[in-house]
Amino acid sequence: MSKSDHNNVIIACDFDSAEALYRFLPQFGESRPYLKIGMELYYAAGPAIVRELKSKGFPIFLDLKLHDIPNTVKKAMSVLSKLDVDMCNLHASGGIAMMKAAVEGLTRKDGSRPILLAVTQLTSTSRETMNNELLIDGPVERVVAQYAKNAREAGLDGVVCSPLEAGIVKKECGDDFLTVTPGVRFSNSDTQDQKRVTTPALARELGSDYIVVGRPITGAQNPYEAYMRCLAEFNGIE
Ligand code: C5P
Repeated sequence: MSKSDHNNVIIACDFDSAEALYRFLPQFGESRPYLKIGMELYYAAGPAIVRELKSKGFPIFLDLKLHDIPNTVKKAMSVLSKLDVDMCNLHASGGIAMMKAAVEGLTRKDGSRPILLAVTQLTSTSRETMNNELLIDGPVERVVAQYAKNAREAGLDGVVCSPLEAGIVKKECGDDFLTVTPGVRFSNSDTQDQKRVTTPALARELGSDYIVVGRPITGAQNPYEAYMRCLAEFNGIE
């Protein structure tokens, strides 16, 4: 899946059951938007929901944000690779050895594997939280850039970061290194718990390859329209 396919707005399906998801999806008709399955839906509906959606033709980003000792992450990734998702992730803060182990676990016998991304700093984390609670000094951008370089060294395909950091990631890691960015809001809307946010159009300008959008779509009066607006704004289509 590349930028030009225009399937680059990933809907965060943060639902608490398969039923809730299946009430949401019919409005998309025959189109097959990229769907992100996170912890809430995965813990509620299990791997079956991923298999079902894949069999219906939806591209899937499985957002489970793994973070454990290298051996455990390697084995977990090897199980996840059998689900045939398109994208999955882990926390860069687990370190380079953990990320390398994840790549090994995820890689199938034929050498293929899903896109693997590292979460840098959550888009809900502010500089104050990072400096004062986590005791990581300096600006968020500096930490994101370092985590991105670590991820690239470990052989990952890209990172999850705020659109505000997409530019520095591209500068440090090259244009081919993917930036997948949550923290997207329409102009004049509520940012909710997200701290480092931009609009879809600005995310594109700043260098995001994919945007992840949850509540602005799932909580909209007309989610299909909100999705189409995101696609149009992100891809610069009038
Ligand atoms: O509803 P909203 O648009 O804020 O949803 C953003 C989605 O992206 C959520 O599913 C959240 O778990 C995910 N996410 C994030 N920040 C990251 C990684 C993932 O907000 N760094």
